[in-house]
Amino acid sequence: MSDIDETTATAASTVSATSAETSVAAAGSDSAATPAAADSSLPVLRLDQVRKSFGSATVLNGISFEVREHEVVALLGPSGSGKSTLMRCINLLERVDDGQIWLRDCDITDPRVNQDRIRARIGVVFQQFNLFPHMSVLKNVTLAALKVLHWNKDRANERAFELLDRIGMRSKADAYPDQLSGGQQQRVAIARALMSDPELLLLDEITSALDPMLVGEVLDMVSELKQNGTTILMATHEMSFAHRAADRVVLLRHGVIAQNGTPAQVMDESQDPATKEFFSHFRGL
Ligand SMILES: Nc1ncnc2c1ncn2[C@@H]1O[C@H](COP(=O)(O)OP(=O)(O)OP(=O)(O)O)[C@@H](O)[C@H]1O
Ligand SMILES: [Mg+2]
Repeated sequence: MSDIDETTATAASTVSATSAETSVAAAGSDSAATPAAADSSLPVLRLDQVRKSFGSATVLNGISFEVREHEVVALLGPSGSGKSTLMRCINLLERVDDGQIWLRDCDITDPRVNQDRIRARIGVVFQQFNLFPHMSVLKNVTLAALKVLHWNKDRANERAFELLDRIGMRSKADAYPDQLSGGQQQRVAIARALMSDPELLLLDEITSALDPMLVGEVLDMVSELKQNGTTILMATHEMSFAHRAADRVVLLRHGVIAQNGTPAQVMDESQDPATKEFFSHFRGL
């Protein structure tokens, strides 16, 4: 079991969930910043020799990589390779056993760190939409801003409507999650994660619970975030999307980084037999 659950942690603190796990988080800088050349920009996230075991099973075995400002990095790898565990370590849902994770100049693995403050700088969306079923779209989107960030209602509603407008969901503000399609629910979950402009957005398999018909609309939203300069680390099995949208891909295998490079370098040009084997399953998708 993890130290704390996604409900509390992703709400940037404790927003009590009665019937659903939720994943609300936010805060940070202006996501409308102009995208910059990835190489010359600063690291938003830096992992240095991160290790994590569950019992005798080593799940992350010395992971080091960076995500730079405005970069979209796709975290790829077979099921069980450690993608979600890595995401959960970054969001402080799991404690690393060794190594450091830096969010800009802050070592967030330092036990003295204020975890709620760190989580408030990282937006998170998981596979399951994790909206509260008994709350309207507007309530779901504003909850953490009101309860955790202590925004007043006007400010929270204004920001929520701005985001709902952006995703074409303003007319659904009073709807309940079960009145929405899976794709719409996931877009609401993304809007919720963006409420206060997180410095980093973690997306963990956000389309894998969706009907194939609905995947496109959510991926379009991720593309739009990229256009706006949002810094994103996304675990995904959507290989063609990763190839198209990611600036870099990091391929995990058995808890180590097997490859780290541009989509072309890793997905098309790698001569490593195991890497070629992995991507051969997705050819033509
Ligand atoms: N809380 C836990 N306790 C024990 N083992 C765990 C825990 N969380 C994950 N694991 C194990 O760690 C390994 C990596 O799991 P993880 O969920 O990170 O993989 P993944 O790459 O996200 O896979 P998928 O593509 O299926 O989502 C798996 O063997 C899993 O069983
Ligand atoms: Mg996973």
